[in-house]
Order: sequence, then C-alpha cells, then structure tokens
Amino acid sequence: MEASTVLRESGRSIEQLKKLRRHPIQGVRYLFRWAEFCLRPAETEDKLRKDAQQYWNAPNTELLNQYSHWRGAGIFADDDLSLALGRKNLEVYQQFCRMIGVSRPPRRIVEWGCGGGANAVHFAPLAETYVGIDIAQPSLQECARQLDAAGFRNFEPVLVDACAPDTALTQIAQKCDLFLSTYVFELFPTPAYGLQVLKIARKLLNEGGMAIIQIRFMRDSWTSRPKRFAYKRNVISNAYRVETFWDEAEKCGFSPQAVRLVPRETLNDQSNYAYFVLTT
Ligand SMILES: C[S@@+](CC[C@H](N)C(=O)[O-])C[C@H]1O[C@@H](n2cnc3c(N)ncnc32)[C@H](O)[C@@H]1O
Repeated sequence: MEASTVLRESGRSIEQLKKLRRHPIQGVRYLFRWAEFCLRPAETEDKLRKDAQQYWNAPNTELLNQYSHWRGAGIFADDDLSLALGRKNLEVYQQFCRMIGVSRPPRRIVEWGCGGGANAVHFAPLAETYVGIDIAQPSLQECARQLDAAGFRNFEPVLVDACAPDTALTQIAQKCDLFLSTYVFELFPTPAYGLQVLKIARKLLNEGGMAIIQIRFMRDSWTSRPKRFAYKRNVISNAYRVETFWDEAEKCGFSPQAVRLVPRETLNDQSNYAYFVLTT
C-alpha cells in the first residue's frame, strides 16, 4: 500500500473512531474489523471457494432465500420491491442497447447466478432460451418455478460447483447473445474468481454479443476492499477498481462500451455498484 494511501486511511479511521466515541461498542467493533483486515492472513482461493459453495447451499432459511432474491422471502415479501429489482436491471440493459445501437433482441440469454429469478421474469420474455446458472439447486428450482408461474417455458437451468465454474462451458452447448450477471460478482470468493468468470462469459458469447455485468467498485476506504477471509462474514465483499475491471475485460477479448456507476442503490441499501456493458 502506498504511503499516501496509508496516511489517508489512517486519517479516515481516526475520524471514524472519533465519531464512534459516543458509541463505544460500535467503536470497538470497528477497530477490531480494521485490525483484522490489516493483520489477518488471506485464506487460500480453494478454501474461500469451498466456503462459498457451502454458504449458498446451507439448508434453506428465509434469510438465505432473501439473499438469493427469492420472491416472497424476507424483504421480498414486498412484491413491488422484488419486481423493481429485476425491472431496474432490464431498464439498464435497454438503455445500454439504445446507447450502442442494438435493436435485435437476444435469442439466447445466459444469466450467471440467477438466484430465485428476479431478473429472469423480466428478461426471459425477450429470448427463445433463458439459461440460468447457479451454484445452488434450490435457487435454480425457484427460478424455474417463477418462470413457469409467469407462463415461460424457455428456462434451462445449469448447476455448477463454486469450486469449478469452468464446468459451465461443458454444460452449455450453444453460445448466447446476452450474458447477464447482477448482484453476483460481489459474492465471488476473490477478485481472481470474477476474472475467471469474465473469461467464461467471453467464451459463452457469440460474436456481436453483449455482456451486462454489475460489480461493486472499490473506493479509497479499506471497508470497500475485498476481504479474503471468513467468507460467511464477508459474503458481499468482492470488488474491483473500475479501471481495473475495464482493462481486464479488454484482456479477455471484450470491447468495453460504457460503465454506469450507482454509488447508492436504494433498492437493497448497498453502495458502490458499477454496471459494465461489454461487447464482443
Ligand atoms: C443476490 S442473488 C442474485 C440473483 C440475481 N442475479 C438477481 O440479480 O436478482 C445471488 C445468487 O448468486 C448465486 N451465486 C453465488 N455465488 C455464485 C457463483 N460462484 N457462481 C454462480 N452463482 C453464484 C447464489 O446462489 C444466489 O442464487
């Protein structure tokens, strides 16, 4: 870490501590998390992948279903919220299409991490085939259920193990026109894992195809950086610098067209989202 960054971060942390003096328990917790971030050794890629597989395949609870964006679960008991989440992603896709002059609907869509189908119910009507990839069988089943209930019979579920994302390539025979992934790259065990999925995305796409990938972007603060330990506690922590993700997409053979930043997402009360539109 550069000296200027260390100084800036220390300054910010001291400010934070001053603010938290009035709330000593939160202050101690903040200090602990900061010390842990600085001092705790990173866990191996292998361990983090196994932990991710275990986390998303734990026995179903209301909370896990909510985290997997199941309609009716937890905060998604509010049906308007559940529908708004996927609709917003559809609007982002449509805006990008207008921006880069794409008017033909995608014949095949692949969604990486489809969860309970919050995107699928909005995107499946556009395509002949909607391929949903996930590491949790119950989520694939829920996605199928939602599409079935909405009258769509074009769903192809693909189950992969979090430890071996490349197996998606052997399971999906035909290339697609749109690769979609939202609220998933932030859950990956490490930044390198996300870049592996980026390469897979490129291989899954036809020439003239498009990827819409939402990531969380890093700011200067340590709190927005990936935590490479205790997956369960840091499940939403994978992040990239915007320019790094752009460069990495180019290295994979994509042409990045645009990035849309969403510093604060009110729908899920999270921050630092970036939607990339990448073409092939
Ligand atoms: C927050 S939900 C997002 C669902 C959907 N993409 C959306 O935007 O509503 C996260 C989903 O990603 C899945 N997931 C987590 N890690 C994954 C991985 N390594 N590969 C594929 N899916 C993953 C989870 O099982 C869960 O269903």
